[in-house]
Amino acid sequence: MHRLVCIHCNTQYPPDAVIYTCSACGHLLTVEYDIDTISVSRSDLLSRPLSVWRYRELLPVDIPPVTLQEGGTPLYHLKRIGEEIGLKNLYAKHEGMNPTGSFKDRGMTLGVSMAIQLNMKMVACASTGNTSASLAAYAARAGIPSVVLLPAGKVAIGKVAQALMHGARVISINGNFDRALEMVHELCISHGIYLLNSVNPYRLEGQKTIGYEVIDQLGYVPDRIVLPVGNAGNISAVYKGLTEWLDLGWIDTIPKMTGIQAAGSAPVVRAIQGDLPSVVPDASPETVATAIRIGAPVNGEKALIAIRKTGGIAESVTDEEILSMQRDLARLEGIGVEPASAASVAGIKKLQEIGMIDSDEEIVCVVTGHLLKDPQTVIAQCSPPIEIDATLPALLSALQL
Ligand code: F0G
Repeated sequence: MHRLVCIHCNTQYPPDAVIYTCSACGHLLTVEYDIDTISVSRSDLLSRPLSVWRYRELLPVDIPPVTLQEGGTPLYHLKRIGEEIGLKNLYAKHEGMNPTGSFKDRGMTLGVSMAIQLNMKMVACASTGNTSASLAAYAARAGIPSVVLLPAGKVAIGKVAQALMHGARVISINGNFDRALEMVHELCISHGIYLLNSVNPYRLEGQKTIGYEVIDQLGYVPDRIVLPVGNAGNISAVYKGLTEWLDLGWIDTIPKMTGIQAAGSAPVVRAIQGDLPSVVPDASPETVATAIRIGAPVNGEKALIAIRKTGGIAESVTDEEILSMQRDLARLEGIGVEPASAASVAGIKKLQEIGMIDSDEEIVCVVTGHLLKDPQTVIAQCSPPIEIDATLPALLSALQL
């Protein structure tokens, strides 16, 4: 059994309430389970395939889920980058290997399944790109229509391509993501459409499985989990999931939750570093990592709790640091990610350089989206192919062999 609970005033709502924030106080909601009724054991779970649905007893879906086989993503040891920056136990969890190329699929398998369970007829989101690609695909899988609102001109081309091809109604607004989210929230409330941004607590239930998989893959709890932070849903979700394992007695510690933002879009970093009681929005966020170009993170309140309660850190990185790490991941490790994803590893590099990290720490960076999401930013960093006449001498000369 589960219910929705306000994280601020504890007001409870039934599991079938279509509600996104507390009607009593306006704060965020979370999904709460009766932990003592969970009958599955850790070893039962370990015998199932690694995927979001390995953990179904800790998820709120009672119907056959809408799935594209999400989760079960690779965990790579970053040997070369780790050696270079002096962290021998550095790992990357490649969420770009999900069905639509980002971690959003973990949330959407849950969110769209809940839409069906709650008998909703249409789904919608605002997005910096990945959420829209994922929602469009899962809505198609479920056979229901979807609407996505994007900030015009600020969404990477691969993501727009996916949303269009999967058949979403794609609307670009002349405004940023934060405005798009306000608009779609109002649309959903007024028109009975199911909102699948990360303010929807059910969506985050799917994303919490990142933390579960990390522990199952390593076989132990790492010291630190590092995530890029935009709307701050993912870092909150991973923390929330791990508190459930702690309550179940399956783990005895939670990793230090560490959030990385782009320097031009860093309201959570400012709140943590300035010890502020809440996140103060950034009116005009800007960064090459358009996925995390978000000034008013809707899950800020949850993220501050996650970082503070675990003794974590928040840090920002410049666009140059992000792009440089995107190239290093691609060239030194063979791991292709989009700019926002490289932020987590760029952030840990910076934290190590400024002496915030113990070099023996076991660290998992979540890299959130695939390189092909944003080919334009990739091409802009690389020399173009060398074009030659179709002859062997021309080939040898081009290769200088
Ligand atoms: N990395 C990528 C690749 C993302 O697409 C996002 C968010 C994040 C990190 C940050 O995660 O919002 O949970 O803190 N993308 C959203 C979108 C906002 O619309 O696709 P967060």
